[in-house]
Amino acid sequence: MLNAAHFRRLMWDGSLDRLEVQARSAMQAPVEGNGNAAIVEMRLRLVPEYVDRFREAFGTEWPKLDDARRAIAAFERTVVSDPRKVAFDRFLAGDAKALTAAAQRGYALFTGKAGCIACHHGPLASDEGYHALGVPRQSLYDSSALVQVAVRWQNAQRDAPRALYRGAEEDLGRYYRTRDPVDIGKFRTPSLRELRYTAPYMHNGVFRTLQEVVDFFDRGGGDAPNKSPLLRPLGLTGDEKRDLVAFLESMSMDEPLLVAAPELPPMQPLVEDTAGSCSPNDAPGGGAG
Ligand code: HEC
Repeated sequence: MLNAAHFRRLMWDGSLDRLEVQARSAMQAPVEGNGNAAIVEMRLRLVPEYVDRFREAFGTEWPKLDDARRAIAAFERTVVSDPRKVAFDRFLAGDAKALTAAAQRGYALFTGKAGCIACHHGPLASDEGYHALGVPRQSLYDSSALVQVAVRWQNAQRDAPRALYRGAEEDLGRYYRTRDPVDIGKFRTPSLRELRYTAPYMHNGVFRTLQEVVDFFDRGGGDAPNKSPLLRPLGLTGDEKRDLVAFLESMSMDEPLLVAAPELPPMQPLVEDTAGSCSPNDAPGGGAG
């Protein structure tokens, strides 16, 4: 979710356009929060501090699920890179010494010989487009029952045709949105900010280091019938690859952007009042479900 605030569309397949919508699917989707809306709302109601603070922020008697999503999204929009702490941002702002010589050579490769800039440009270093690179298969699928269940469930839930659902051992990417076979295996170009802290890489986490990523691009990517014509073998030397990695690292903050885990306010059972406003029939969200 780093810098998610700045993307026009969210997720690797661009399936969502707002953090508020993402918060709903994360709360309720079966392989994520698996929450029942009425129960989630009821739980918020059992935390006096939330009741008070939602009343202050939204003017409601009880926390509403829609407002909880707004609150989560508002928080997420604060988790963004601080350009003062990013060497490459300081360099672009005029501090020529902010980048090491290796990173400067890497920058020249990125925009020149290596051609990365074709897809990775702008403040996020992403064109926000969708491309198939032929990223290798993630072997975790073979050994992890949880991964198998999650992948198949996602496929079934997204109404992929049965043959694809049965056979697909991988995320089909943009195809889920468009249902056009030409989009199978296309993913939204990710931001290249904060890479120092966000290994492993690619939509399936198949590469553990930036060196592996650069080697992959140097080979011209992997195999895919619809692989982007922008990928081709680059013929980078060992030094050039190291320079490129140094440049990629310069787009990260000097220290990781960490959010301390908050201490959660305690729950407290509701006390029945004379008007009976806590009876089960009065559950928020239109019934106990
Ligand atoms: C054709 C467009 C395109 C070009 C050219 C391109 N990339 Fe990418 N890049 C992508 C896409 C799309 C992904 C995500 C692919 C996936 O996960 O299947 C990606 C992923 C990455 C990642 C992983 C980011 C993460 O958070 O997982 C890095 C690092 C990266 N690219 C660096 C580079 C470098 C360095 C170059 C130049 C050598 C380059 N890219 C060239 C489109 C491109």
